[in-house]
Amino acid sequence: DIYMDRQNSLGRDYSQKADRERHAAALARVDAEKLTSGPLIGGKLRAGTNPQAVTNPFDTSRVLGHVFETTAADLDAAIDAAARAQVAWDRKGGAGRGPVLRAMADALEADLDRLVALLSREAGKTLNDGVAEVREAADFCRYYAMLAERDFGGPQTLKGPVGEINQLVLHGRGVFACISPWNFPLAIFTGQIAAALAAGNAVLAKPAEQTPLIAAEAVRLYYRAGLDPDLLALVPGRGETVGAKLVAHPRIDGVAFTGGTDTATAINRSLAARPGPIIPFIAETGGLNGMFVDTTALKEQVIDDVILSAFGSSGQRCSALRLLYVPHDAADALIEGLKGALAAQVVGDPSDPSTDIGPVIDADAKAMLEAHLKRLESDARIIARAALPAGADKGHLFAPTIAEVPTPDYLEREVFGPILHVCRYEPSRLRETASKLAARGYGLTLGVHSRIEAFAEEVARLVPAGNVYINRSIIGAVVGVQPFGGEGLSGTGPKAGGPWSLIRYASEKAISNNI
Ligand code: NAD
Ligand code: ALA
Repeated sequence: DIYMDRQNSLGRDYSQKADRERHAAALARVDAEKLTSGPLIGGKLRAGTNPQAVTNPFDTSRVLGHVFETTAADLDAAIDAAARAQVAWDRKGGAGRGPVLRAMADALEADLDRLVALLSREAGKTLNDGVAEVREAADFCRYYAMLAERDFGGPQTLKGPVGEINQLVLHGRGVFACISPWNFPLAIFTGQIAAALAAGNAVLAKPAEQTPLIAAEAVRLYYRAGLDPDLLALVPGRGETVGAKLVAHPRIDGVAFTGGTDTATAINRSLAARPGPIIPFIAETGGLNGMFVDTTALKEQVIDDVILSAFGSSGQRCSALRLLYVPHDAADALIEGLKGALAAQVVGDPSDPSTDIGPVIDADAKAMLEAHLKRLESDARIIARAALPAGADKGHLFAPTIAEVPTPDYLEREVFGPILHVCRYEPSRLRETASKLAARGYGLTLGVHSRIEAFAEEVARLVPAGNVYINRSIIGAVVGVQPFGGEGLSGTGPKAGGPWSLIRYASEKAISNNI
């Protein structure tokens, strides 16, 4: 069975001295290097333009390296090379492409310590998050290799009239633009590329402005794994310039995007205005994720799962918990428990194995959270804030916060960071409460904590979500286990890491032969 016989990537155990020592050595190496990212086309770094320093979000005085922006001429050159190389790559079929993606998974695992160090320095990832991210990137590569071999193995014969042979063939569309966010700068970056490649496409990959160094490392690993460099170009730069030019380019055959809902809307508009063929747009966007607790839930388990879901990765996951709905009768006890659990979280340097919560990504993210905190101070109730270490102002640490809000639809849109909003509800008004959340139009993750199946079923019926989690945390979807992605304002699908992930990256051709 191709689904059941697979295995996900293995991790590290930082309670082991040897693993901690490997990590410290990798950090020292990354600190000593001055990395460069820029347009990587045909395997070569081009000069680009507008150099920018890349800094560590925990300590912005540390410069990790530099990134050069892609020019319009670089984009044209990358598309020329990609379009030429794509034809032969597509003809290889799934069996020819799978081994390259598996070699990429092996290369990621072999480089795990260095990648975790870089994820920590460039994206502020804690060690556990960094390891999970490398594993997820490797999982995407192996999973999509498996799907390529399953679905791109040659024509499928279909039943038809006697005397006619009817076949269906899947093939690549051409050159895909893959545009990714900073919050999973390795896993989502690598996963989008792997999906597009697996389906027989070439790729131009635009990483987020904040995380171009790890993206360049990932592209170099693809080359080292044996991928023809013409098939994959890195085109870093600002979204509103390089990103916008990329999606408007007349020779792009599809766009895979993960990021904010507003950006997806802007890209959708640009694609609609583009002359020429209508091309697929795959968008995975933000969430306004709720969790509903009832009086039968196990308090300690709820507290653990809420803290992880709201504050893991500094709340900078699209899947993170934003709104916790607790029944009036259980609310005071739960809130007390959450206060205690938040106080036990260690906020600080993400590269330190004892840190639970690292910084937010940049000054804009911190300013947005501070403005939201001001609103909460004026029309909600701050329940608790975690302590920050001395020297927190050298970077973008933001004290994780729990606030009680007065109405179920207090949040109009995603607030991306470590703030949990708690709302009390009357069990007799569950339907009305849930409907108010649903009316916001998002549909990414949803949590339920209850021992009553009918309660979980009702909440899941009332609130749209691509991923529903019952009696567990709502983050950390595993490739092939919890195919991930939302609906409504949260995305167009198809899900990442699911059995139908590749279909929107491919074209279908039906061939009828009256022999
Ligand atoms: P963002 O939308 O600001 O940027 C994402 C990417 O789009 C970046 O590479 C950016 O440069 C590019 N971009 C910006 N404007 C563009 C334009 N006009 N044309 C083309 N490209 C453009 O998002 P972000 O701040 O990097 O990431 C955080 C967001 O991503 C959150 O909303 C989060 O919920 C979402 N996200 C969703 C998922 C998911 O799977 N649903 C996963 C991770 C993150
Ligand atoms: N796939 C990521 C998660 O599930 C975003 O948390």
